[in-house]
Amino acid sequence: MNTTIEQATAYNYKVVRQFTIATLIWGVIGMSMGAFIAAQLVWPQLNFDLPWTSFGRIRPIHTNLVIFAFGGCALISTSFYIVQRTCYARLPSDIAASFFFWGWQVMLIAAVISYALGYTTTKEYAEMEWPIAIALTVLWATYIWLFFGTIMRRKTSHIYVANWFYGAFMVVTAMVHVVNHAAIPVTLMKSYPLYAGATDAMVQWWFGHSVVGFILSVGFLGMMYYFVPKQVGRPIYSYRLSIVHFWAIISIYIWAGPHHLHYTALPDWVQSLGVAMSIILLAPSWGGMINGMMTLSGAWHKLRSDPILRFLVVALAFYGMSTFEGPMMAIKTVNSLSHYTDWTIGHVHAGALGWVAMISVGSLYHMIPKLWNHAGMYSSRLINMHFWLATAGTVIYIAAMWVNGLTQGLMWRAINDDGTLSYSFVEALQSSHAGYIARLIGGSLFVLGMLVMLLNTWLTLRRPAEQHVPALQPVEV
Ligand code: HEM
Ligand code: HEM
Repeated sequence: MNTTIEQATAYNYKVVRQFTIATLIWGVIGMSMGAFIAAQLVWPQLNFDLPWTSFGRIRPIHTNLVIFAFGGCALISTSFYIVQRTCYARLPSDIAASFFFWGWQVMLIAAVISYALGYTTTKEYAEMEWPIAIALTVLWATYIWLFFGTIMRRKTSHIYVANWFYGAFMVVTAMVHVVNHAAIPVTLMKSYPLYAGATDAMVQWWFGHSVVGFILSVGFLGMMYYFVPKQVGRPIYSYRLSIVHFWAIISIYIWAGPHHLHYTALPDWVQSLGVAMSIILLAPSWGGMINGMMTLSGAWHKLRSDPILRFLVVALAFYGMSTFEGPMMAIKTVNSLSHYTDWTIGHVHAGALGWVAMISVGSLYHMIPKLWNHAGMYSSRLINMHFWLATAGTVIYIAAMWVNGLTQGLMWRAINDDGTLSYSFVEALQSSHAGYIARLIGGSLFVLGMLVMLLNTWLTLRRPAEQHVPALQPVEV
């Protein structure tokens, strides 16, 4: 840590810097795991016939690392940065902040080791067994206390809208995590859920969709509401729209979970409710996207010269695209074609790479020089190179999955005149092979881009600090 900078500022930037570095490192590891399982789907020999290197064990390591380690650390670092700067207040406790940082890393490592060893609740995105889930709860409570404690100490009368989004993300994540993890432990690393059958599935996807809604959407929208206006150098297009956006999105997202369980034992009316809520969700999602995009009105020319802004705008475009695709996939007839196919994986990564990763990367490029007292990143050309690697990687990935998804769905449902299936499962798998190779190429380009970012960050931090950060700088957002 740079003590002079730390003393010169009234904010706790140390924990923001720690989480920023952690975001980059976990990003590279988590996405490399993604590239590895993508390679396993091309060359099954890469499972090495060992349990801990098998696809089934590495897949949850990938999903947990990209969501809770990469995405989580990005959200935590930016939320601490924004809440302190918009409230003109320091986090309530440096010790608690340090405890939270180190505790979060240990919890993540424990989760990874336990998955590799085969300990899992089997619930997607909630695979961690009960001791790790309890640790996460304690750490999350610390996070909530640090964040809301800063808001309580604020020296401004209003609370900037980005903080509303971050606040909702924290509270709802706590709620769904605790309810979904309610279980009876039988040994140190084995538990049984409190719920049974269809109820268990419903609770799981109420949680699962809230991970999508409140971590991967609402949390990152908080990031968008601060960094897009900052990078453009203009206020958000409509503050009123941002408030309507906030209340609409948080009241609707929580109801959409049943679209993950179409044509199952879940009561039919619950499935229909999920469809209706998913379609309504298009409106607030696009409201938020338009609010971000329109912030650029009159400043579109900046895209020509500012690669950081390009990341933020392309992220918004992918957000708009995936939140149009999602409601369509929620319609039962469309879902009967898309479910179980690579179309879902394409949708996931349009959101995950195009939106979540791109908005995080853009925000971090804005934040890193400020955290370490530099005028800018070491190299704009490297940022630009990263931008093209990430954009090309995402487009190749999702295009490959759409082609695969539609091919699989159509082949599985094709029947001959006598009612027998036209294609075997293996035939559909064989026709997916080219798409899996393309996905591996796209994903690898994306990982390469993250390595370029790591290099650019290292080159930036190596230089001596340039400017003095005054205590409690005013921020106009
Ligand atoms: C270099 C980048 C990435 C690559 C190559 C990659 C690759 C993969 C692969 C191969 C799968 C398994 C697909 C299957 O089971 O058929 C997967 C699943 C998944 N990935 Fe990624 N991934 C990448 C980045 C990310 C990021 C950044 C996120 C989130 C922020 C993410 C979130 C997920 C999720 C949620 C799933 C599970 C999807 C589902 O069950 O429907 N991935 N990824
Ligand atoms: C209006 C917004 C959205 C709606 C209505 C929506 C709807 C859907 C639907 C219908 C599915 C397929 C469920 C299935 O067949 O099993 C799905 C899967 C998924 N979506 Fe979205 N989506 C939206 C936005 C997003 C965004 C922005 C992300 C960000 C990354 C995202 C991430 C995911 C993930 C991770 C899955 C896979 C879940 C799993 O099966 O493991 N979605 N979504």
